[in-house]
Amino acid sequence: MIAFFADWLNLLIRWAHLIAGIGWIGTSFYFIALDLSMKRRENMNPGVAGTAWEVHGGGFYHVEKYTVAPKQLPGDLIWFKWEAYLTWVTGMALMVVQFYLNASAWLIDPNVMPLLPWQAIGISIVSLLAGWLIYDGICRSPVGKNTTLLAAVVFVLILAAAYGYTHVFSGRSALIHVGAFIGTLMAFNVFAIIIPNQKKITEVLMAGQEPDAKYGEIGKQRSVHNTYLTLPVLVMMVSGHYPMLTGNAQAWLLVGLIVVGGAALRHFLVRHEVGDPLEGYSWTLPAIFISLCLAMWLTQPQDRSRLAEIDVSDVEAIQITQKHCVSCHAKKPTHESFEEAPKNVVLETLDDLRRYATLIDQHSVKTESMPLGNETEMTREERDKLGAWLVSQ
Ligand code: HEC
Repeated sequence: MIAFFADWLNLLIRWAHLIAGIGWIGTSFYFIALDLSMKRRENMNPGVAGTAWEVHGGGFYHVEKYTVAPKQLPGDLIWFKWEAYLTWVTGMALMVVQFYLNASAWLIDPNVMPLLPWQAIGISIVSLLAGWLIYDGICRSPVGKNTTLLAAVVFVLILAAAYGYTHVFSGRSALIHVGAFIGTLMAFNVFAIIIPNQKKITEVLMAGQEPDAKYGEIGKQRSVHNTYLTLPVLVMMVSGHYPMLTGNAQAWLLVGLIVVGGAALRHFLVRHEVGDPLEGYSWTLPAIFISLCLAMWLTQPQDRSRLAEIDVSDVEAIQITQKHCVSCHAKKPTHESFEEAPKNVVLETLDDLRRYATLIDQHSVKTESMPLGNETEMTREERDKLGAWLVSQ
C-alpha cells in the first residue's frame, strides 16, 4: 500500500515539476526573445528604449521597454518568479521521493562508491548548495566582469560537478544530479539575485530616486546564464530513459558536449526568432553538429563479435536473471521497494526474456544501467553471457 501511494506522490510531484518548469522556461525564453526584438521607432513614449509588435491568439500586442523604468510604476506589476521557485521546490521534492527515500536502490551504486544512504544523501545536499556558493562567488569576482571568461569558468565548474557525480553516484542519479546542480544555480539566480535586485530598483523608483544601473546589469547577466543553461538541463532530466547516456563510462564528457550543443542551440533559436541575419550566428550550426557527432562517437556500439563465441544454455540464462533481475522484475517482487514489476517488465520465463530482448540488451549488456544501482553486483562476464544468449535467440 505504501508503494502504491508513493507511486502516486511521485507522479503528482513530477507533473507539478513539469508544469512549473514549462512555465519557467517559457517565460525565460519569451523575455529574452522579447528583449532582442525591441526596436527604436518613431513617436515612442518618454523614457522608452524600444518597442515590439507581436501577434498571438487573435490579438495584437504592443510592448514598450523602459531603459530604467517609467516615472510611475503601477500597483499591479506582474512578477515572474514563482515558476522558477516552484520548479526548484518540486524538483527537490522529486529528488527526495525518487532518490533519497530509496537511496540504496536509486542513488548508490556500490561499484562506483560503496556509500551508506545517509552519506549519499548528505553528499547530494551539500554538493548542490556548494555548487551555488562557488558559482555565485565566481560571478561576483573579477572573472564576472569578463563575459567570455565567466562562461568558460562556469562550464568547467559544471564539467567538474559531472566528473564528481559520475564517480560517486549511480549512473542514473549522477546525470540527474548534474541537472539538479545546474537547476539550483538557475533557481537561486532568480531567488537570490535577479528578484532582490529588481526589488531594490523598484523601491528606489518608488522613492522618486534614480536607481543604480548596476542592479539591472547584474540581474541581466544571471538571466542570460539561465537561458543558456536551460536546454542542457532538459537533456539531463530525461537522461534516465537513455542508458547510452547514464550507463556510459565517459558520461561526464557527454555532459560537456550536451552543454556546448544545448547552449549553441539556444543561441541559434533566439537569434533566429528575432530575425537576425544568419551570418551573425551561423557558427552555432557546426558547433551543434560537432558536439552531436562527438556524443554519438562516445556512445558508439561496441564490437560484439565476442558474444557469438560464448555458448550459453537456457538454464544458465534463467539463472542469471533469477539472480539479478527477478527480485524486482517479477509479478510479485520480493524486493522491499517494489510491489509490482517496475514498468511492468516481468523477467521470469524464457519467453519474457525474448520479449524484452532489446531492452535487456540495452540496459544490462551494452550498458550497466540494470540491475538498478547494480545492487546484486552483476559481473561483466554474466552480462556477456546474457547478451550471448539473447543474440543466439
Ligand atoms: C532493484 C530493483 C531492480 C532490479 C534488481 C532490476 N531492475 Fe530493471 N528496473 C527497475 C526499475 C525501478 C525500473 C524502472 C526504471 C525507470 O523508471 O526508468 C526498471 C526498468 C527496467 C527495464 C525497462 C526499461 C525501459 O526503458 O522501459 C528493463 C528492460 C529492465 N529494467 C531490465 C532489468 C534486467 C535485465 C535486470 C537484471 C539483470 C534488472 N532490470 C534488474 C528495477 C530493477
